[in-house]
Amino acid sequence: MADLDKNKNSLDNKDQAWSARFAEPVAELVQRYTASVDFDKRMALVDIQGSLAHAEMLAAQKIISAADYAEIQKGMSQILSEMKDGTFTWEIVLEDVHLNIEARLTKLVGDAGKRLHTGRSRNDQVATDIRLWLRGAIDEIQTELKSLRSGLLGLAEKHAETIMPGFTHLQVAQPITFGHHMMAYAEMFARDAERLTDCRKRVNRLPLGSAALAGTSYPIDRERVAKTLGFDGVCQNSLDAVSDRDFAIEFCSAASLAMTHISRLSEELILWMSPRIGFIDLPDRFCTGSSIMPQKKNPDVPELARGKTGRVNGNLISLLTLMKGQPLAYNKDNQEDKEPLFDSADTLRDTLRIFADMVPHIQVKAETMRAAALQGFATATDLADYLVKKGLPFRDAHEAVAHAVKACSTKGCDLSDLSLDDLRAACDLGSNANLIEQDAFEFLTLEGSVNSRNHVGGTAPEQVKKAIAAYRKTLG
Ligand code: ARG
Repeated sequence: MADLDKNKNSLDNKDQAWSARFAEPVAELVQRYTASVDFDKRMALVDIQGSLAHAEMLAAQKIISAADYAEIQKGMSQILSEMKDGTFTWEIVLEDVHLNIEARLTKLVGDAGKRLHTGRSRNDQVATDIRLWLRGAIDEIQTELKSLRSGLLGLAEKHAETIMPGFTHLQVAQPITFGHHMMAYAEMFARDAERLTDCRKRVNRLPLGSAALAGTSYPIDRERVAKTLGFDGVCQNSLDAVSDRDFAIEFCSAASLAMTHISRLSEELILWMSPRIGFIDLPDRFCTGSSIMPQKKNPDVPELARGKTGRVNGNLISLLTLMKGQPLAYNKDNQEDKEPLFDSADTLRDTLRIFADMVPHIQVKAETMRAAALQGFATATDLADYLVKKGLPFRDAHEAVAHAVKACSTKGCDLSDLSLDDLRAACDLGSNANLIEQDAFEFLTLEGSVNSRNHVGGTAPEQVKKAIAAYRKTLG
């Protein structure tokens, strides 16, 4: 938006569809300010698809002649080939994708082109285009989500028995398996897919036929158009159909959640890849070096994904704010819906595609994970649980093990490094000391700990494998 101070009336708007009512041309800056063609031209294919379905219905209802419909079809296929070979010219003076295509059609086929807009308005036309476009975008995103989910399953399967420390408060908490950790993300992305499937149902309704806001006096057949375009039904109120963009907001919200999940995974990958932690490595093709520090290998992809999540969240807020003060029905504000929507869809799709490619190649450093799980008393809860099973109330058991942890911290060793006598003494159980027997050490090992959490949702390798098998079925 350059030259904000200029207000030249230099461009002729006599070609505008609405110019007859105006006494002077629109100022050049106003023309650029109000035009959307630069960004809405990416809806050209769905705009043509919608127009053809509308024209077919107009002909079937005898609102236009069969000959006019044939001319419209001919003109549109010419336009499609011009778009394909790059010879179609977009003009800012024609404001948006709809008027650019209609003007070219009229140039190509004359009066038949001028009849296409019978019984419709750009208000229901644009609402239809966005829904068609978004439906396609959701389908593409679902494909990417599916391959990311299957990548996670593969990695989880490979590491169903690989032990790592599980964290709470970023402090070592209890041993878990890396497979279990990956399956947590598979769960999140499965819910994202579910949300998008649900959102698609509300996207997939036809606004066309609502015309500007009140419907149209022509004997249209909206169901027919809905069927041609693959919509599940028609929007039931014309005012609502041309004005609300809740379906786009809903999509942006689902996109924000999916990006938030990617962002959490990214944060973990970044931490794990830090040489200080060293749990994983990422293939070089997803990283970059530093221009000054030769030793660096930076996890740029996860960092950028974490950063882009902010943009996608911003898009959601943009759309909510765009909508909140609008009276019924259509207002030009709604032209501002497209860029945030396109950006969220593009960002999510590309991010998922890159992650689907990267995740199966995460290199897991199992030995480092194991060593980390052996530090930080990850099996302290297991010892407490052991004492509870021997009849001690949980709170007493918790306190006893806390004493033992304190003693080990001072000594600089792990619970499993103590002899039976030392463990009994460290737990400070008095006359209950002999509740601890040699078998306690089975529970203090990492394997003993994870294997014991053998129920639905638990970290035991057996459960992780079951979860993976169940998931595979849902992925088809
Ligand atoms: N480019 C416009 C949009 O995106 C199309 C609808 C224009 N309608 C109108 N009444 N000016 O919303």
